[in-house]
Amino acid sequence: MHDFLINRHTIRSYSDKSVDDHLLNSLLETACRASNTGNMQAYSVVVTKDSERKKELAPFHFNQKQVTNAPVVLTFCADLNRLTKWCQNRNTTPGFANLQSLTYASIDAVILAQAFCTAAESQGLGICYLGTTTYNAEQISQLFQLPKLVIPITTVTVGYPAEALDLDKSDRLPLSAVIHQEMYTDYTSSAIDEAYRMKESMPQNQQFVEINGKENLAQVYAEIRYAQKETDYFSETWIEAIKKQGYID
Ligand SMILES: Cc1cc2nc3c(=O)[nH]c(=O)nc-3n(C[C@H](O)[C@H](O)[C@H](O)COP(=O)(O)O)c2cc1C
Repeated sequence: MHDFLINRHTIRSYSDKSVDDHLLNSLLETACRASNTGNMQAYSVVVTKDSERKKELAPFHFNQKQVTNAPVVLTFCADLNRLTKWCQNRNTTPGFANLQSLTYASIDAVILAQAFCTAAESQGLGICYLGTTTYNAEQISQLFQLPKLVIPITTVTVGYPAEALDLDKSDRLPLSAVIHQEMYTDYTSSAIDEAYRMKESMPQNQQFVEINGKENLAQVYAEIRYAQKETDYFSETWIEAIKKQGYID
């Protein structure tokens, strides 16, 4: 097993070293070898290197510092525009303006993004995903002048790490907590205790609970980090963006 996969972690601070265009293109080309639905490659990637454009983009990612700090920002989009135009130009009528097409195009975009991340990390680069992409998809679409049937799905910031790689490795649930043999075994209360025991006992997580004035880590997740009021609100903004980009009415 490759050590870089086991030891990897998200990098949010980057050094001043730029990412060579040749390397970037070769990583993207490698990533495009990933599996994709029907080999339609229903995705596009917007590359942002210009610092002024990064400044314009940053507020849509709630000014997370990675956007302006990283030399390269990649916005991975579900794209059925290109395929639609190809079909139209070849005298046929495509039917990609629907949720099913958006779903597989999104899956393709995420697989592409992860293939890129793995390739980049194998070369000593650091990456950070930005989940904020789907929160403000409409504004990001406007900034990049995305036409109908193109919508941003996820964003990855890329650069050489300013931080040492092994200082900050994040925890994971035990494998037994996430794997089900043959059939799904629903979680008993004690299985939940077992699954989250290590996470809850970590000093940094206990500190996190204290700082947020909550009783436990689950409350921090449910009431602060992913509070329902906000997730409901950003579900609405996401639905609006999907409509605007022409996938649903
Ligand atoms: C879809 C997705 C969205 C994410 N969004 C953000 C984000 O907006 N900001 C951030 O700092 N990290 C983000 N992350 C990184 C996660 O926080 C990180 O992967 C997780 O905490 C595990 O840490 P590790 O990657 O260092 O192992 C995101 C990761 C994924 C896969």
